[in-house]
Amino acid sequence: MTRNDIPEDRGNAVEVRGLVKHYGETRALDGVDLDVREGTVLGVLGPNGAGKTTLVRVLSTLIQPDSGTARVAGYDVLTQPRQLRRVIGLTGQYASVDEKLSGIDNLYMIGRLLDLSRKEARRRADELLERFSLTEAAKRPSGQYSGGMRRRLDLAASMIGRPAVLYLDEPTTGLDPRTRNEVWAEVQSLVRDGATVLLTTQYMEEAEQLASELTVIDRGKVIAGGRVDELKAKVGGRTLQIRPADRSELPRMVGAVAQAGLDGIAGATMDEAEGLVNVPIVSDEQLTAVIGMLSARGFALAGINTHLPSLDEVFLAITGQKTSLTDDAPRTGADADALQEAAA
Ligand SMILES: Nc1ncnc2c1ncn2[C@@H]1O[C@H](COP(=O)(O)OP(=O)(O)OP(=O)(O)O)[C@@H](O)[C@H]1O
Ligand SMILES: [Mg+2]
Repeated sequence: MTRNDIPEDRGNAVEVRGLVKHYGETRALDGVDLDVREGTVLGVLGPNGAGKTTLVRVLSTLIQPDSGTARVAGYDVLTQPRQLRRVIGLTGQYASVDEKLSGIDNLYMIGRLLDLSRKEARRRADELLERFSLTEAAKRPSGQYSGGMRRRLDLAASMIGRPAVLYLDEPTTGLDPRTRNEVWAEVQSLVRDGATVLLTTQYMEEAEQLASELTVIDRGKVIAGGRVDELKAKVGGRTLQIRPADRSELPRMVGAVAQAGLDGIAGATMDEAEGLVNVPIVSDEQLTAVIGMLSARGFALAGINTHLPSLDEVFLAITGQKTSLTDDAPRTGADADALQEAAA
């Protein structure tokens, strides 16, 4: 089973309906519906100010919604906050470790607060320090840690109690690639052990690595959602990549596609570095037509492949679409730019 396969017949670990939260005039959440299926990772994508942290805070019972309902592991955020808090783990956007305590003492203390025995708290702290490459720094006050080290410690802290439902609010923002990979591996292993994860992120690659389903929010509203591959397909189109047997044929092949006048095919581009001709297509008929035409003209082909758009492309297509449908376009435009920068 690949990570994008979604197990059937599972209930929802998180159920959110019509969630609204205002801050004065700001509608941080403006009627959000979403589900996270048990044992899966839901990626919540959105630009700055979209409402991601507000959603996580409501689901952690740190703030109360103005209206709507949210249940986590069957517990209602408003009426069963104490039970709910026992089954969740939270890694906030801003690390929340005690700076005066060492890394190991931070983890040990949290383990004890969670009712682990001394021995078990110690064992779990050692295990997580090892996992996040903090063993060497374990005895130093965490106030002296670098930003990345603090974030790793914060993640370790949220995992001590092996929570059934874990919220990760932009867990790898500011981490170097190696550390990001470690965090991803840890999240994947938790999910293999049965945990459910709600992950907010601005990194498309992160959502692609970890999430089976995505919800895209903007200005407190869900603007798109579905399986990663479905969302990609929704944006319409794939790229047909054709590799000629002879690289020097690249320009002639691009010319042939452009001149053939095939239905719905606007043209082709050449990727000299990869030795590929790229043709945007929207149907299998077009794929067949392009390949048929090239074969009929005697081009020898060494390989063909189709490529779905990246999540970056999907996100920009969705938020871009929204821009054209709303009056106050500049804000979303600026957000899209910020997002592009963040993703770069
Ligand atoms: N405590 C608060 N008081 C007033 N406004 C707030 C508060 N918290 C959030 N907001 C506003 O609510 C909106 C949503 O904020 P939120 O922090 O949920 O966004 P976000 O998606 O997490 O953004 P980012 O990617 O920057 O973390 C923003 O307009 C923000 O300014
Ligand atoms: Mg946030």
